[in-house]
Amino acid sequence: MPDRHKQKKSKYTLDREMPGAFEGETITRRRLISGVVHGAGGVAAAAFTLPVLGFALGPIFSRVPFSWQTIGVPSDFNQQTYVNKVITIVPGIGEAGYSLAYVRQRSSIDTEPADQYNQYIALSSRCMHLGCPVRYVDAAQRFMCPCHGGVYDFRGMVAGGPPVRPLDRFYTRVYQGDVQIGPRYSVNTELERFSARDPAQPIDGIGQFLYPSRFDTSVLPGH
Ligand code: FES
Repeated sequence: MPDRHKQKKSKYTLDREMPGAFEGETITRRRLISGVVHGAGGVAAAAFTLPVLGFALGPIFSRVPFSWQTIGVPSDFNQQTYVNKVITIVPGIGEAGYSLAYVRQRSSIDTEPADQYNQYIALSSRCMHLGCPVRYVDAAQRFMCPCHGGVYDFRGMVAGGPPVRPLDRFYTRVYQGDVQIGPRYSVNTELERFSARDPAQPIDGIGQFLYPSRFDTSVLPGH
């Protein structure tokens, strides 16, 4: 049984015979300083770790609302060459959110299964080595990357250099007479669709599991 009449501990440090105690004080300087130091250490640690956590976890909560963008009418495009179209890939940040898409009509050389989202082939201009902007050279029917010599053929397949996969693509559709461009997606060497990956991430074979897509990738509604 606990002693109910046990003497209550004095709040004064001197009464508790703490070393270095002064009369009338309720906390020693040693405890006060040690508490302040620990508190300052905690603030300093939080100043480093909170921004890192924010960068790491932020994309989980930043799903960008998806919207189709009109890029022209069907007669603006043909099967023989690409047309450059400036599109917005990150809304709300001005020119920094713009990107370039190369767009043409689908033709008989496109052997991947046809559906309502690839009657127009829209390739991303971002090199799949390290992300430099590629340029379409009509005379060679090739996409050239100026950074490390990456070359892609007319369909955006790797034809030479260090890129690890074909150029990314955008969903397209014809809506009320307009050609519209949708979210980006990645393809493997069989031109199978995958959710958008970053450059330098191969997605053939086991690569698709080693390099999962980011959480903030826009998803095509109902797809
Ligand atoms: S970034 Fe294009 S080849 Fe390196």
